[in-house]
Amino acid sequence: MGHLWLLGTWGLWGLLLCAADPRTGDSKIIPKVTEIIPKYGSINGATRLTIKGEGFAQANQFNYGVEDAELGSSVQLVSSFRSFSCDVERDASHSTQITCYTRAMPEDSYTVRVSVDGVPITENNTCQGHIRSRACSFYVKSFKTPTIRSITPLSGTPGTLITIQGRIFTDVYGSNTALSSNGKNVRILRVYIGGMPCELLIPQSDNLYGLKLDDPSGDLGSMICKTTGTYIGHHNVSFILDSDYGRSFPQKMAYFISSLNKISMFQTYAEVTAISPSRGSIQGGTMITISGRFFDQTDFPVRVLVGAEYFHIVFGSGLDAFPTAPLQ
Ligand SMILES: *[C@@H]1O[C@H](CO)[C@@H](O)[C@H](O)[C@H]1NC(C)=O
Ligand SMILES: *[C@@H]1O[C@H](CO)[C@@H](O)[C@H](O)[C@H]1NC(C)=O
Repeated sequence: MGHLWLLGTWGLWGLLLCAADPRTGDSKIIPKVTEIIPKYGSINGATRLTIKGEGFAQANQFNYGVEDAELGSSVQLVSSFRSFSCDVERDASHSTQITCYTRAMPEDSYTVRVSVDGVPITENNTCQGHIRSRACSFYVKSFKTPTIRSITPLSGTPGTLITIQGRIFTDVYGSNTALSSNGKNVRILRVYIGGMPCELLIPQSDNLYGLKLDDPSGDLGSMICKTTGTYIGHHNVSFILDSDYGRSFPQKMAYFISSLNKISMFQTYAEVTAISPSRGSIQGGTMITISGRFFDQTDFPVRVLVGAEYFHIVFGSGLDAFPTAPLQ
């Protein structure tokens, strides 16, 4: 009996070893998860998690543009009800460490489940079988979630400076050492307006447009950033903090509904700087040239309204003048 049991156990180990590394038969390391840090993160995702262990996929296995979802390490965060992927940052992952970014997830406690080349690491090898231990848990919490309460102004041309107010937790940007004045060890990583960065630093300087906490010991504050890009339309705004925070969550009051019935936090508009000539015949046929900035046509072709008449104009063909229609 004793011998049979022993054989059985060895057989199982053999299977595990094969399963652990189907591609490079020479490696004998059984993948293990030992720890996940940080412990807390935002309900709106973008918390950068580091998962420590051994036998994870090597960074170089990810290369060569192979779109094989099974290849490499993958991470799931699992609560009693749901499971969410954590998006692995391949360049920052190797055999003893995986870096991944959380997605928006409801407040809950999650355990970490890692797969290597499509093979799940067993519970036994996740925190030595204590998968619900603190070492292998991650807690998504509202109190660790930055918020946006308001954006001012609500609209402007691209390049407008906007002020973001809310629970920003820190008055530090872009430094790896400094503590925030409220004592918290957290920094602003990035601010986004739509898909584009919103710049906190004044160009060619180390100075910020504005970043402060309302109260030196509190978490509420404001930051000023310069919008980038040339897109004309509706934008949502968010910012990302490092450490055990993540992406900001907008409060409902940060949104408005535009005249085009779109929900957003900021709206960009084009700017007309000149119209010439300023007079024309009531018979129509006058060529009008409209000068300005940000005549962006991503969402709609540019429309020109003179009185109550619409004109459709073609850009990019050198045609920036068009005849007016007769006025009725
Ligand atoms: C894994 O854990 C199960 C119980 O959950 C146990 O029966 C089994 O022997 C363990 N396997 C290994 C290889 O440790
Ligand atoms: C902004 O976010 C709201 C809520 O998630 C969404 O309904 C809206 O479509 C977003 N607007 C834009 C321009 O992405």
